[in-house]
Amino acid sequence: MAVAHLTPSAAGPVSAPDDGALLAVADLRVSFRTPHGVVDAVRGVSFSVGRGETVGILGESGSGKSVSVGAVMGLLDSPPARIGGEIRYRDVDLLRASARETRRIHGDRIAMINQDAVTALNPGLTVGYQIAEMFRVHRPGTSRDDARRKAAELMDRVKIPSARERVQSYPHEFSGGMSQRVMIAMAIALEPDLLIADEPTTALDVTVQAQIMQLLAELRDETGMALILITHDLGVVAESVARVLVMYAGRIVERGPTAEVIARPAHPYTAGLMSSVPRAEHKDRRLATIEGAPPVLTAIPPGCTFHPRCARSRPVCSREGPELGPVVPGRESACHFAEEVYGG
Ligand SMILES: Nc1ncnc2c1ncn2[C@@H]1O[C@H](COP(=O)(O)OP(=O)(O)OP(=O)(O)O)[C@@H](O)[C@H]1O
Ligand SMILES: [Mg+2]
Repeated sequence: MAVAHLTPSAAGPVSAPDDGALLAVADLRVSFRTPHGVVDAVRGVSFSVGRGETVGILGESGSGKSVSVGAVMGLLDSPPARIGGEIRYRDVDLLRASARETRRIHGDRIAMINQDAVTALNPGLTVGYQIAEMFRVHRPGTSRDDARRKAAELMDRVKIPSARERVQSYPHEFSGGMSQRVMIAMAIALEPDLLIADEPTTALDVTVQAQIMQLLAELRDETGMALILITHDLGVVAESVARVLVMYAGRIVERGPTAEVIARPAHPYTAGLMSSVPRAEHKDRRLATIEGAPPVLTAIPPGCTFHPRCARSRPVCSREGPELGPVVPGRESACHFAEEVYGG
């Protein structure tokens, strides 16, 4: 896939922020040319993921979570997407590497599952065949029998009951939760270093959601793979993610250790997300909705993108866009008044 590059931002030259990281994203920018104008979906996002680390990404609909990981997975067609910045997996620059090189990484070393397992599966092929296909495509030396045996083992590993018989089942014979288990089996088939889970449980009911999260956590602990978990569910983030990034209108507005961010947000947007979240004993743990709407991404206003919705907004907020910067050690926020927010 040919990728058009934007020039590095005015913020300075682009370089990998952390050479020891498994994945290092630096100043990622993604825009889409549409009939209504250019949509600036991701506007200078930098983060890294270490080996075996779990990172959560939170943020309301349209904040650029899926587009960011879509860029990492090489899923964005260009055009309409224009991608700038740097995405480094180990020592490979994924935006500039050859198609041959990225094919060895996407779906193999970095795998992804998303929300819609049911439509992601091919209705005309058995689930066993679809899992076995991972080996046929990425490990061409694997014999048909071996691939089939491994498919059954994987179905067992993701706790699909009677796995050995069910390799012959078709997707329509599976519930949503079981289909998501099949997707997870395909994602972990080649033992990836990094699994990206983009809202893997939103289409499922609450009990099944908990089981899928439990399964992902177990597989992560067994295999030592790193995990990027995108979710709207604050409870999921609180329980399974050590470090969280909060996105708003295509940027990271806050990041830090999850427990600390939840207990004491340093950005008014994060504080808003947390404010009406019921306590742990309540069942509904989804994020609060904040009054007002995010900016239209074809016409982003100057200053802080959150200021029209922010109760703390002052004149500087509509003039100058705050950079993401340290508040206290380990914590970063992109707010002119981060210390004040953090201080309560
Ligand atoms: N192919 C595309 N063409 C034009 N705009 C796009 C395209 N793909 C995504 N966008 C826009 O980019 C923005 C970010 O979308 P993205 O899918 O990353 O949001 P998200 O944070 O994953 O939201 P959700 O929680 O709803 O999944 C949105 O405004 C979306 O409409
Ligand atoms: Mg999304």
